[in-house]
Amino acid sequence: MRAAIKNRYGPPEVVEVREVDVPVPFEEQVLIRVRAASVNRADLDTIKPKPSFTRLFMGFRRPRDSSVGFDAAGVVESVGANVTSFKPGDEVFTDMFASGRSGGGFAEYVCASETAVQPIPTGMSFEEAATLPHSAILALQGLRLGSGRTVQPGDRVLIDGASGNVGPFAVQIAKAMGAEVTGVASGDKLDFVRSLGADHVLDYTKVDYTRADERYDWIVAVDTHHPLRRVRRALRPNGVYVTMGGETGSILAAMVGGPLISRFSDRWSGLLLWWKPMHAPDVETLKEHIAAGRVKPVIDRTYPLSQVVDALRWIEDGHARGKVVITVADG
Ligand SMILES: NC(=O)c1ccc[n+]([C@@H]2O[C@H](COP(=O)([O-])OP(=O)(O)OC[C@H]3O[C@@H](n4cnc5c(N)ncnc54)[C@H](OP(=O)(O)O)[C@@H]3O)[C@@H](O)[C@H]2O)c1
Repeated sequence: MRAAIKNRYGPPEVVEVREVDVPVPFEEQVLIRVRAASVNRADLDTIKPKPSFTRLFMGFRRPRDSSVGFDAAGVVESVGANVTSFKPGDEVFTDMFASGRSGGGFAEYVCASETAVQPIPTGMSFEEAATLPHSAILALQGLRLGSGRTVQPGDRVLIDGASGNVGPFAVQIAKAMGAEVTGVASGDKLDFVRSLGADHVLDYTKVDYTRADERYDWIVAVDTHHPLRRVRRALRPNGVYVTMGGETGSILAAMVGGPLISRFSDRWSGLLLWWKPMHAPDVETLKEHIAAGRVKPVIDRTYPLSQVVDALRWIEDGHARGKVVITVADG
């Protein structure tokens, strides 16, 4: 089968499509014939490690796991002896991270743990389903703390990074929760963010929301774009700031400093540490939003598997408005 492979770290161009053996499922695994996959910022972060300390886990000089791609959707080809929930022919989607892998979705076949696989939402194409696993689940979990506290109707919510992978889902889910939503992106993507349902938009090249007068009940940043103390200024009393990523320094500040300061304040801030990929109750919530028309995947572009480098490059260069999908069957 053909699969995207990385044998060294670097820019998207280190990824190659090669012939490799079709994987054989273990007893608890499902073999999926991939029809579509989608690209996430996190894929690029495994190709060029970010934050840099993740090399300690992924391989210091070169990647231990050569596979690429978290999100995949396709058809069950075969199942391991202990699998009870799926059978050949079922249409499913998965986040390879939930199977303990740092990739694998950009391939003709993948093996995923039964618990990391879910049926595709009714009536949804493989391409649309492939956009959901990583980004939509992260968006949902960024609008809820580990304690279970969540966005309330009428809350003023700001999504910092509203135009890429996670942001468009976060805007739509926050609106579905009854929030008044502000989306932050660069100027030429603001119409796109408005089209997702955002009530207000901010161009981060012109306005720094941490220095402006508005205050928010909930701020979700897909990456750390501002120092913690400045973002906390932009919170209302009892407000929440959740950041999903950043470089080593900002991750440490959010992971350690955020919760520490929060103990002496009515505002909570910190790194999203409660991510549970393919968490079944969250997949159900997502499916309800989709069925009701409250959340809709937005596909910016599709590329065949043979052009996986171009797909990664499109995201790396910051062009995407929504999701980039890789079609596998006809690549
Ligand atoms: N915490 C966890 O457990 C966990 C797990 C998995 C992944 N993650 C993280 O989740 C994040 C997902 O990000 P993504 O895939 O949605 O990223 P993305 O698609 O690359 O989106 C980046 C967004 O940030 C905006 N942006 C770029 N520079 C900015 C700046 N200086 N100020 C404000 N906005 C700026 C971009 O706007 P323009 O395009 O308009 O420039 C875009 O809307 C990644 O950081 C990943 O590492 C976290």
